[in-house]
Amino acid sequence: MGKLLCIQTFGCQMNKLDSRLVADALLADGCELTDDEKAADVILYNTCSVRKHAEERVFSRLGVLKRLKAERPEVVIGVIGCMAQRAPDEIIRRAPHVDIICGPQDLPNLPAILADYEPGRGCFVATGGSEEWPESLRDACRSPVSAFVSVMRGCNRFCSYCIVPYVRGRARSRLLEDIATEVRQLVDAGAREITLLGQDVNAYTDEKGRRLWHVLAELAQVDGLRRLRFVTSHPATVERELFETMARYGVICPYLHLPAQSGANRVLEAMNRGYTRGRYLEIIREARVIVLGLEVASDFIVGFPGETDREYHMTVDLMWQARFQNCFIFKYSPRPGTKASKMDDDVPLEKKRKRNAGLLSIQKEIMEERHKELEGESFEVFVQGVSKRDKGKLTGRTRTNRIVVFEGDESLAGRFVEVAIDSSTPLTLFGHIEEDAS
Ligand code: 5AD
Ligand code: SF4
Repeated sequence: MGKLLCIQTFGCQMNKLDSRLVADALLADGCELTDDEKAADVILYNTCSVRKHAEERVFSRLGVLKRLKAERPEVVIGVIGCMAQRAPDEIIRRAPHVDIICGPQDLPNLPAILADYEPGRGCFVATGGSEEWPESLRDACRSPVSAFVSVMRGCNRFCSYCIVPYVRGRARSRLLEDIATEVRQLVDAGAREITLLGQDVNAYTDEKGRRLWHVLAELAQVDGLRRLRFVTSHPATVERELFETMARYGVICPYLHLPAQSGANRVLEAMNRGYTRGRYLEIIREARVIVLGLEVASDFIVGFPGETDREYHMTVDLMWQARFQNCFIFKYSPRPGTKASKMDDDVPLEKKRKRNAGLLSIQKEIMEERHKELEGESFEVFVQGVSKRDKGKLTGRTRTNRIVVFEGDESLAGRFVEVAIDSSTPLTLFGHIEEDAS
C-alpha cells in the first residue's frame, strides 16, 4: 500500500498491544509508521470506554482532525477499540468526518477493511466480532525487548460499574501451546520480558482445562526469558496454585496487580466483586507468605453510588493495612448499560475529587516510607532507556515494577544491571550501577 499510518492509543495495556498488532499487520501490507498526524494517510485512534473522561478526550482529539479532513479529504480516519464498539452512532453523530469504526473483536479484519475502503462512501462500521485471535497478526521479527502477549480476552464477571464485558465480549482463552509458540518466537527475536495480558487474567482456562499457572510454568522454561509477568488478576478467583507457581520459578516476577476497588463490604457487594474486605486482606497475606518479596498493586474507585464517608474511610484503612506497591485511583464514572448506571450517582464531584486526592496522598506516604526502607539495598534493574525527566540518566524497573533512575550509558537499554539505591522520592528510586547483570 505504501501509506503513512499514524496510530494513537488511549486506555489500557491490552489497547497498547492491539495497536501494536494492528501496526504489525499494516506494516506487513506495506504501510509505514509516523507520529505526525498531519503527514499521515491513515489515522487510527485506538480508544477506551472505561470512563467518560477517556471518551471525551477522544472526541476532542477527533474535533481537531475535522480541519485536517477538510484540507485533505483523502485522509482515512478510523476510530477503533472499545469506544468504537460501545458508541458507533455517537461517533458518527459527533464526528461525521470519521471513515471507519472498528470494534476490538473486529481488528483482525481491519487490514482488509482499509484495503477495500473507498473514500466518499460514508462511514464503514465493523462491530460484529471476529473469531480470529488477533495475535496471528503479529510480526515477531519486530519484537521489542519487552513484549505483551494476550492469553485471554473479554470478561464474564460483570462488575456493576464496568463496561468491559459489553465492549470486549465474553471471556475466551488461547490454547497454551499457541501462547508458548508465540512467546518462544518473541524471545528468539530478542524479548527478555513478557507480560501476559487478560482483563481477568487468572480466569484463564484453555480448551484442555489448563489454568494460568500451567501457562506460567510452561513459559518459565523458555530459554532466554528473564522476566515473566501477568495482569490483571481478580481477587474472587486467584488460587493458591498461582502463588505456589510464582514461588517456584525465579523468572516469574513477584508482582501481583490485584484491584481491590473498595475497602467497604457494602460497596464491594454493590460492585458485584464477589469478595469481602476481610477476604481480600487474607488473600494478600497468604500470597505474601508464599511468594517471597511479593509486591501487590491495586486499583480503587472513589465515589461509587451511595459511598458514605465511613465507607471511604474503610478504603483508607485498607490501604494502610495492605501497603501497596502502587495504586491507581479513579473517580466513579457511570457507563451506559452497566448495572451501576441505573443507581443514583449521588456522590458530588467535589467529594469524589477530595476522596481521590485523599487516597493518592496516603499512597504517596506509603511509597515514601517504603522507598526509604529500600535505600541501601540493591536490585536487578531492566534498563528501559534515557530518563524522560533527566536526559543525562537512565531509567529502568525492578522485578516488582519500581522505577529506578541512575547514571549509565544509553547502550545499556534492554540490558539488566544491578543498581544500589542511594536516595528516593515517593515515585522513584535513585542509585548507581554496581554491575552489569546481563
Ligand atoms: N468508573 C471509574 N473507574 C472505573 N474503572 C472501571 N470502570 C470504572 C468506572 N465506571 C476502573 C477500575 C478498574 C480500572 C481499569 O478502571 O478501578 O480496575
Ligand atoms: Fe479501556 Fe477497558 Fe477497553 Fe482497556 S478494555 S481500553 S480499559 S474499556
